[in-house]
Amino acid sequence: MLKAKIIATGSYLPEKRLTNFDFEKMIDTSDDWITERTGIKERRIAEDGQSTSDLAYEASKNALRQAGLEADDLDLIIVATVTGDMIFPATACLLQNLLSAKKAAAFDINAVCSGFVYGLSVANSFIRAGTYKRILLVGAEIYSRIIDWEDRTTCILFGDGAGAVILEATDGDSGIVSTRLCSDGSLWEILTLPGGGSKYPPSEETIRKRLHFLKMNGKEIFKAAVKALQTLVDDTLKENNLKPSQLSVLILHQANLRIIQAAAARLGLPMDKVVVNIDKYGNTSAASVPIALDEVVRAGKVKEGDYILLEAFGGGLTWASALIKW
Ligand code: UT7
Repeated sequence: MLKAKIIATGSYLPEKRLTNFDFEKMIDTSDDWITERTGIKERRIAEDGQSTSDLAYEASKNALRQAGLEADDLDLIIVATVTGDMIFPATACLLQNLLSAKKAAAFDINAVCSGFVYGLSVANSFIRAGTYKRILLVGAEIYSRIIDWEDRTTCILFGDGAGAVILEATDGDSGIVSTRLCSDGSLWEILTLPGGGSKYPPSEETIRKRLHFLKMNGKEIFKAAVKALQTLVDDTLKENNLKPSQLSVLILHQANLRIIQAAAARLGLPMDKVVVNIDKYGNTSAASVPIALDEVVRAGKVKEGDYILLEAFGGGLTWASALIKW
């Protein structure tokens, strides 16, 4: 049976670093607090002239180069983002234009931090159905443009970046084994950017009320994420008759080191099987999982036949997993 196989990965992080010590000079916070509560030491910030499609373009070029493919070889481009260049057109269309990928269809996915894993599921379904053979999937974000730099409870958490994969149809043994998508819209209010859409169109009032910035109830998200991830990982492993010890690599959305450590401990996985880069990049939302995947692939830490579990959670709420046999 046809399935999707990741044949190449790529990522791009802007050069500019913003450290916890830089934040100490800007707001009432400390390196100790941020490190202890989140695991973050620094994050990358896009240059003024850069937009999300530019970050996606750099990550995509790296993935195409690794695959030895041209943009014209792509049938479909999916970008997972909530910080697209504009409300429309889709950032995927802007990326298509930058790449000059003339034969591809293009659209965006909005599942906030779970967007990339949702995208893997969508791409896998298209490939299994025989609709498309080769898909570029990108997670790209510039949260530095939507965070409230005066809100110390959120502004220290996020960073900018992009990660990309190229998926190809295969009838071999390796590829995406299974995906699981979950949502709970009743919890939409605990992570949202309310302004600028049809409910609160831009006005002086929405600006005054700071509705164009991200709002998050961190504690509630933390609790919901830990609970959701427990069930998700159990269900994913059970469905595929796998024991945690059979996983070679666990890649969790990089939102908080404590959430990552709790998930690893519960599974009895040693931390050397768990990817952690939140210290360097903070929470890059939909970009966090593909950036982490690119890092382990480039470091040669995955080999053929390895099981890799990807998991993410975020606004919506949404949460999702993808089990991959490399
Ligand atoms: O990717 C999307 C999903 N998002 C997440 O997964 C985020 C999940 N949540 C979290 O990671 C954590 O809840 C946070 C890191 C956001 C917050 O950590 P916490 O341990 O839940 O802290 P808290 O919100 O309970 O705040 C504890 C104290 C408060 O002071 P009081 O009320 O105890 O006096 C805050 O005002 O820490 C204070 N605080 C800060 N202090 C220094 C909050 N932010 C800061 C800060 N620097 N930046």
